[in-house]
Amino acid sequence: PETLLAYIERETACEKDLKGKKILVTAGPTQEAIDPVRYITNHSSGKMGYAIAENAMLRGADVTLVTGPCAVEPPMFVKVKPVISAQDMYEAVTEEYDQTDIVIMTAAVADYRPKQVSDNKVKKKDDRVSIELERTDDILKYLGQHKKDGQFLCGFSMETQNMIGNSRVKLTRKNLDMVAANNVKMAGAGFQGDTNVLTLITQDEEVSLPLMSKEDAAGKILDKILLERVRR
Ligand code: CTP
Repeated sequence: PETLLAYIERETACEKDLKGKKILVTAGPTQEAIDPVRYITNHSSGKMGYAIAENAMLRGADVTLVTGPCAVEPPMFVKVKPVISAQDMYEAVTEEYDQTDIVIMTAAVADYRPKQVSDNKVKKKDDRVSIELERTDDILKYLGQHKKDGQFLCGFSMETQNMIGNSRVKLTRKNLDMVAANNVKMAGAGFQGDTNVLTLITQDEEVSLPLMSKEDAAGKILDKILLERVRR
């Protein structure tokens, strides 16, 4: 019955205002290996990205979801590319980029990874240890540098202070068309929950959305992207 319902929903749930658009969504955390049993990661659940992928699919888009390891099930009728590390995500995203109209990067990509990955489990010692970290490639920055006419790039920004200012820096530095920003310290916003409180930042304006479900927020993000594309 669930499968049948999913097929019916795909046909009837929404106006197909994204028909013919190729949309790439990234979601979830990345995992950066320390050794065969340990890794560095973050609290991202993937829910926001999965909700965007589902909403875009219901609106008729051709959706690819590049996802780090998540506990939630990805939506049906989207092409899922599972990845583990920031480097895997970089490769999966850049492979799709040329054929993509809209990229929405909700993934919480690790900014650093261990410089040495041990082939064997690292054994404990009595003394302290430190792990040297090196920068990962910034995927969105790369996409911004190689953006072609007609492509739309939306980044996500998670801040604990000076949310608008810091997010505007990302908009410019990474050559983005929009940043969806949230303050992790605000009730109902951020990683693991089912709701979010977003501010959609473009070159000309800031639209503050109230607290809403991640599904509703996904719809608002895609509405705004459609509006921005028409304006340009
Ligand atoms: N991002 C990316 N590649 C990375 C890191 C982040 O594409 N290696 C993307 C994220 O998916 C998100 C946006 O960039 O859409 C976040 O921007 P970023 O400057 O990385 O934000 P923070 O990591 O929060 O920045 P800072 O650590 O400076 O606060």
